[in-house]
Amino acid sequence: METSRYTLPLLLVSLPFFLSLSAQMTGDFKCSGSTSTCMSLVGYSSKNPTTLRNIQTLFAVKNLRSILGANNLPLDTTPDQRVNPDQVVRIPIHCSCSNGTGVSNRDIEYTIKKDDTLYLVATEVFGGLVTYQKIADMNKIPDPSKIDVGQKFWIPLPCSCDKLKDEDVVHYAHVVKEGSSLGEIAAQFGTDNMTLAQLNGISSAVQLLANYPLNVPLKACSSSVRNDSLDAPLLLSNNSYAFTANTCIKCSCDASKNWTLSCEPSSQVKPSNSTWATCPPSRCEGAEGLFLGNTTTTSTSSSCGPRTCAYAGYSKQTIFTVLTPTCPDSASPGSGNYASTFSPRFNFVLVLIQCALLCLYLL
Ligand SMILES: *[C@@H]1O[C@H](CO)[C@@H](O)[C@H](O)[C@H]1NC(C)=O
Ligand SMILES: *[C@@H]1O[C@H](CO)[C@@H](O)[C@H](O)[C@H]1NC(C)=O
Ligand SMILES: *[C@@H]1O[C@H](CO)[C@@H](O)[C@H](O)[C@H]1NC(C)=O
Ligand SMILES: *[C@@H]1O[C@H](CO)[C@@H](O)[C@H](O)[C@H]1NC(C)=O
Ligand SMILES: *[C@@H]1O[C@H](CO)[C@@H](O)[C@H](O)[C@H]1NC(C)=O
Ligand SMILES: *[C@@H]1O[C@H](CO)[C@@H](O)[C@H](O)[C@H]1NC(C)=O
Ligand SMILES: *[C@@H]1O[C@H](CO)[C@@H](O)[C@H](O)[C@H]1NC(C)=O
Repeated sequence: METSRYTLPLLLVSLPFFLSLSAQMTGDFKCSGSTSTCMSLVGYSSKNPTTLRNIQTLFAVKNLRSILGANNLPLDTTPDQRVNPDQVVRIPIHCSCSNGTGVSNRDIEYTIKKDDTLYLVATEVFGGLVTYQKIADMNKIPDPSKIDVGQKFWIPLPCSCDKLKDEDVVHYAHVVKEGSSLGEIAAQFGTDNMTLAQLNGISSAVQLLANYPLNVPLKACSSSVRNDSLDAPLLLSNNSYAFTANTCIKCSCDASKNWTLSCEPSSQVKPSNSTWATCPPSRCEGAEGLFLGNTTTTSTSSSCGPRTCAYAGYSKQTIFTVLTPTCPDSASPGSGNYASTFSPRFNFVLVLIQCALLCLYLL
């Protein structure tokens, strides 16, 4: 009984394997760039109604607000919020790359229950985001048909940290719906069918396999986050937000704001990490009057125009900031703004110098 229920899906799954062996089929996302860890997204939907709390537990997401941010849901959404059948929820996962392939880290585990098969776990519980072969491979299960109730397995979800043509993107694992085409998916996610085909190692003419994940690159907002910051690379796609720097900072990405990440101090009173008793001040370096998220009024003394105090990452001790855009004609970062903030004092100094020169001349 146990075996027969397992054999049919096994056959069905293996069938296309002999026809074409595409990257989409194996569910492996290429990850060969210089960044070896990052946050990636998966699109999860369940055949049965569920709640955000269940999804948070299933995917071992530490804070519900990470899921809320990825879906741009209000912060006061409760964990009991119902999720309808086939409603897609975006879930941020920790991605690590090795051997040219990206997989989620070992946080996501599943404990086998009565009547579970690996096939059901892959297709039903995890909505087709992973194949049962991949679960078997990565957990070194010798015989996928022999699993026991109570056994715990790592669920290796597909992900990637690669840039796309030198541009930052958030990789999104999209489970292909029956009958949808590459062109439709490309249009839905703001990319093109050639890019999708190339990224997934398939010909753009090939029929997509339904219920398998496709690697979809979502354009990310550009940011000023330093590459040595603890949250680098901080990648957010359109219409999403995230907390960072021990929840002291909230960043959001909105395509209509020129695809630039905007960050501000969060209203969080207590940092999430007890190494910080309180959130460090996020005053802009070199421009004392400015705080993170503040924008200068147009400065008359520089060609820069308005500049923003932007988030530049964090370390164990501090939160970094930078004035953007950096002034090409200014000697040091922030000096353009410095001049604008303290211009009355500068004028006064100039008058003093001029006066001194005049006095010297007169003498
Ligand atoms: C990378 O691939 C090699 C050869 O396939 C294998 O021996 C090694 O264990 C793999 N490393 C990791 C970290 O998966
Ligand atoms: C790819 O997109 C182009 C332009 O949108 C379209 O003309 C072409 O038919 C598409 N190709 C496939 C295989 O979907
Ligand atoms: C980090 O950025 C600095 C300067 O922006 C650059 O010199 C350095 O090579 C970068 N390091 C890495 C690992 O990308
Ligand atoms: C960004 O997201 C908003 C809200 O969903 C949407 O209206 C807009 O079309 C998106 N813009 C791009 C360029 O994807
Ligand atoms: C939008 O961003 C691009 C590149 O980051 C920049 O060249 C352009 O000036 C920006 N436009 C506005 C209106 O800020
Ligand atoms: C600057 O930012 C601080 C902190 O976010 C805020 O309280 C203040 O109102 C801002 N000032 C201006 C002029 O935008
Ligand atoms: C808190 O921060 C320290 C230093 O950055 C880090 O080593 C530690 O892992 C963090 N703890 C948690 C729970 O994030």
